[in-house]
Formats: sequence, structure tokens, C-alpha cells
Amino acid sequence: MTTLKTFLITGANSGIGKDTARQLALLPNTKKIYLACRNAQKARQAQRDLEKQTKSHKFEIISVDTTQPATVKKAVHELPEAIDAVVLNAGGIGGKTPEKLTPEGVTTITASNLLGHVILVDSLIRAGKLKKTVLFASSEAARGIQQTGMKRPELSSGSAEEFTRIYDGRFFENKFDAMQVYGYIKLAGTLWMSAMARKHPEFTFLSISPGGTRGTEGMNDLPPIQRFVFKYIGMPLIMPLLGLSHSLEKGAQRFVNALNNPDLRSGKFYASKKNVLTGALVDQGALFPELEDQDLQNHAYQAIQNFAQAS
Ligand SMILES: NC(=O)c1ccc[n+]([C@@H]2O[C@H](COP(=O)([O-])OP(=O)(O)OC[C@H]3O[C@@H](n4cnc5c(N)ncnc54)[C@H](OP(=O)(O)O)[C@@H]3O)[C@@H](O)[C@H]2O)c1
Repeated sequence: MTTLKTFLITGANSGIGKDTARQLALLPNTKKIYLACRNAQKARQAQRDLEKQTKSHKFEIISVDTTQPATVKKAVHELPEAIDAVVLNAGGIGGKTPEKLTPEGVTTITASNLLGHVILVDSLIRAGKLKKTVLFASSEAARGIQQTGMKRPELSSGSAEEFTRIYDGRFFENKFDAMQVYGYIKLAGTLWMSAMARKHPEFTFLSISPGGTRGTEGMNDLPPIQRFVFKYIGMPLIMPLLGLSHSLEKGAQRFVNALNNPDLRSGKFYASKKNVLTGALVDQGALFPELEDQDLQNHAYQAIQNFAQAS
């Protein structure tokens, strides 16, 4: 049984983040779950739903927009206690303008999935408000998902300069396809987590993919035709047959189980076996040796730190 009692989950008002909150609240040791959300109305509705579903009052809303560093820092400052675990779940394909640069100089897709979380974790550590575990919502897209047309991210030098160009969008020149860029950002976030695990051996850093998960809001920002095909045909009808999607409950369960599994190793990326997006979680280092490359990890880390420090 878990020894973790207090959690903060970003993007907890829908999809996997919300169901992770629900499942964690049902564990007897759980005392408090901070729902770190950007939209106050959606957050209040989620809190009401979760209270009803779990018959508990373990949820507190905290205002965080991961694309706005000031909100992240304020949230950490106002957090009334140190938390056992933080779930870096907010993100996805970056809204309707994923390529748009934030004032920090990164694309919105980078800011929402990665930069805001880098600032969150650094701020929690600096404030002495993180006790044990960081879980990053990664994705099999970080190693490419052939069946959905998401190509495996290809780096040329893997230098910090190249990661800077991925974060600010120059790497993609005028071919900015959010579905492809998403894989690069999840890969970079996963490498950043591995670097953090080496720099902070006092904490556990786990990158976990929820797998292909139905019933989320994730595809709502895709262009209309892509959205229709993915949401109403691919995800519910074709992908389950190919072992490429599972229920919302199963997706969130991967996070909950990982938080409670002492056998998982800090700095590793656990996701589905090769060519599928459901089923058992396996260490991706065996499938994707680049993940174990410490220079690559350091470069992904260094490049995002430069933006974090300037924020
Ligand atoms: N579903 C899958 O198959 C799958 C597979 C692999 C990985 N993932 C990852 O799992 C995570 C959760 O995705 P999901 O499928 O559950 O999608 P979702 O239903 O769209 O949930 C995403 C959540 O993140 C929030 N969010 C987005 N940008 C934010 C920002 N800048 N600041 C604060 N919150 C923000 C959203 O809030 P709003 O409601 O305000 O937009 C929403 O609550 C994502 O990181 C996604 O990349 C999903």
C-alpha cells in the first residue's frame, strides 16, 4: 500500500489527470489532492464531480497555467504544505495555436507540456515542498507510433542547440505539424526527467505513458477533419482492435500504479511494448537506446533550463 499521502496534479479537470485524482482519492492513505488547473470554472466542476464520485473532500483547487510561469511560481508559493508527489499531466498538442511563441520564447506546445513543468518542479524543490516523486505524462509518441502516422523523432546532433531549436519551433521550419512536434516534446521531457533523476537522487522521477487512452479531451484542438477521424473513427473503433487504445480508467491506472510501485527505477521511461499502446508497461530504454544517452539527457535538460532561468 502506498505511503504517498498528498499529491498535486496539473491539468486535473479532465481526462487522465481527473481520473488519476479520482483513483488516488479512493486509496485509504490519500489525504489531499491539489487539482492544478488553468480554468477556474472547469476546475470547480471537476472538484464537484470528484467529490461525488469518491464521497470525499480530499480535493483542493490551485490555479496553474503551465504556459504562464508566474502562475506556476505563485501556486508553489501559496501551496500550504509539502506534497509527496507531483503528476506533470497537463498538456497535449498545445491548443489551437501550438506553434505560437510564449513571452519566454518557446512554442505553446513546449510551454504547456514541458517548460511550465520544469519551472514547477524546480520551484517545488527550491521551496522544500516536494517530498518524494515526480511523474511526467510521457507518450509512446516519443518513440513514434507507426500505426497513427506519428513518426519517430529524429535528431541530427542531439546538441543543446538542437533542443533549443525544438523548443522554440525553428527545428520544424515551416512544417509545424503539432502531432509530429508532440513526439519531440514528449521525448525531450522524458530526457529532462532522466537528467533530473541523476541530479536529484533524493527524489524519484518516473516518465510514464498512459497509453492510447479513450474518453479524454486531448483531440479537441486538432483541425476539424483530423479531429473527426481520430476521435470518432480511429480512437473508438479501429485502435482498440489493434491494441492501440484502452479505457480512461486504464490510462489513469498506469499513473496510480506507477506512483505505488517501489520496483520502478528513477529516471526510466515506462510505456507499452513495441507496436502497441496498451497492456503491460516496459522500460523503454531496451527499445529505444537513445533514452539512456546521458549526453542527450543533459542537452535536453540544459536547453530547457536556459528558458526556465530566463523566465
Ligand atoms: N490520451 C492519450 O491517449 C494520451 C497518450 C499519451 C499521453 N497522453 C498525455 O496525457 C496527458 C493528459 O492528456 P489527456 O488525454 O487526459 O487530455 P485532456 O483530456 O485534454 O487533458 C489535458 C488536461 O491538461 C490541461 N492543460 C492543457 N494545457 C494546460 C496549461 N497550459 N495549463 C494548465 N493545464 C493545461 C487541460 O486543461 P483545459 O481543460 O483547461 O484545456 C486538461 O485538463 C497529456 O500530457 C497527454 O499528452 C495522453
